[in-house]
Amino acid sequence: MADIKGQFDITGQIIAVTGGAGVLCSAMAKMLAAHGAKVAVLDLFEDKAQEVAGAIKADGGEAIAVKCNVLDKGSVEEACRAVIDAYGTVDTLINGAGGNKKEATTSPDLSFFDLPADAVQWVFNLNIIGTILPSQVFGKVMAEKKKGNILNMSSMSAFKPLTKVLAYSAAKAGVSSFTMWLAVHISQNYSKEIRVNALAPGFFLTEQNRFLLTDEKTGKPTQRGQQIIDHTPMGKYGQPEDLLGTTLWLLSPASSFVHGAVIPIDGGFSAYSGV
Ligand SMILES: NC(=O)c1ccc[n+]([C@@H]2O[C@H](COP(=O)([O-])OP(=O)(O)OC[C@H]3O[C@@H](n4cnc5c(N)ncnc54)[C@H](O)[C@@H]3O)[C@@H](O)[C@H]2O)c1
Repeated sequence: MADIKGQFDITGQIIAVTGGAGVLCSAMAKMLAAHGAKVAVLDLFEDKAQEVAGAIKADGGEAIAVKCNVLDKGSVEEACRAVIDAYGTVDTLINGAGGNKKEATTSPDLSFFDLPADAVQWVFNLNIIGTILPSQVFGKVMAEKKKGNILNMSSMSAFKPLTKVLAYSAAKAGVSSFTMWLAVHISQNYSKEIRVNALAPGFFLTEQNRFLLTDEKTGKPTQRGQQIIDHTPMGKYGQPEDLLGTTLWLLSPASSFVHGAVIPIDGGFSAYSGV
């Protein structure tokens, strides 16, 4: 009988996490380090990345903090060099940097017709360009050694667009498309030992969506927040911890034949038609 438990072993794996100081990816970084990975926490905000790396080290794990702007290829290349200087190579990339902003979201005060192009562009860039550039830079290292793993962050808004978040929905659909595209491209051209997948988290109450889901004055769910809970068969928002088991699975040999997949972690949201 195969040692299934052993297949989840990621001891010594060198993992770079962009947006690693954020709510979801800092939880992933901590879990991965607790399971023996060497984690490079890459973030635009170096001080926040230092905090996450510091917390990992305080718990006996291995981590470094690296400043990295995922929208600037030079900055990503510098970050990649820093990871290689520290750990000798890189095995895995998590493209965690991403998000939405109020100015790219329709509301009673901001119609579709008035959405500013620069805000829409900001969201496209952060989610799509910010996933492609690190995949080029870190993926090249993987292509050279013919082994590696890339994990992207898609969203529920990629399957069917969510109301209001026009740019974010289109951008995350792009991330899902890129995940499938790169999985095929990398297998056909570089190696059958490099995998590319994505998580599609459901609704997690974080800074990027707090203004949409929680009434600033009362702290109670907005109508949209309540609609989401009502449309989630499990009847709640996710917690960052809910992503961790699937992350470990996708980054370990336990998922060795899973490639080009976008995995919903959504309490059943995407399975429910509403009726
Ligand atoms: N929160 C949710 O409900 C949810 C749902 C589905 C998908 N996601 C996706 O999961 C990922 C993480 O989300 P989160 O809620 O933890 O977000 P977050 O805002 O807490 O974290 C994002 C991190 O990315 C960093 N960042 C921003 N711009 C950057 C840049 N140019 N270069 C490098 N780093 C940059 C930020 O400093 C931050 O630490 C995002 O891609 C997000 O779109 C979130």
